[in-house]
Amino acid sequence: MIFALLYSSVAVTALNDDELTSLLSTSRRNNEADGLTGLLLHLHGGDDDKAWFVQILEGEQAAVERTYERITRDELHDDVRVLESGPVDDRRFAGWAMRLEQILVRDLRTENSPAMADLVRDPRAMNALLAGHRA
Ligand SMILES: Cc1cc2nc3c(=O)[nH]c(=O)nc-3n(C[C@H](O)[C@H](O)[C@H](O)COP(=O)(O)O)c2cc1C
Repeated sequence: MIFALLYSSVAVTALNDDELTSLLSTSRRNNEADGLTGLLLHLHGGDDDKAWFVQILEGEQAAVERTYERITRDELHDDVRVLESGPVDDRRFAGWAMRLEQILVRDLRTENSPAMADLVRDPRAMNALLAGHRA
């Protein structure tokens, strides 16, 4: 059984390339060892300095939950909230111990879209965003 967990969080600050590279290499090393795959979105570049993370973790349930618990304690972000979790038929990001995509908030927002803080809490909107990044 494959288990998937989708969460979003508020970044303490937008991360620069070096910080993201370092985060990604730690994540890939651990996830590879744990048989996890997934996608991490770093949403930034709006009117202010605000940034958010959206991540999906896929794999064995115990490994997903253990990793998620560790991630929630990371001081790089706050307000970590599960949007969706449960068994799935297939991995959506098989082959990626963790893939990173940078999302520019100004590309995402349209005139009538809800505030980013609300958008990143919306499981349907965030699933749609992930779907756009499938291999
Ligand atoms: C947004 C975000 C996503 C993360 N994703 C992962 C991940 O997929 N896998 C992982 O092991 N750690 C991830 N981390 C890092 C963990 O919080 C933690 O620092 C790391 O797992 C510690 O690993 P280490 O003990 O090997 O240094 C993430 C952190 C943040 C802030």
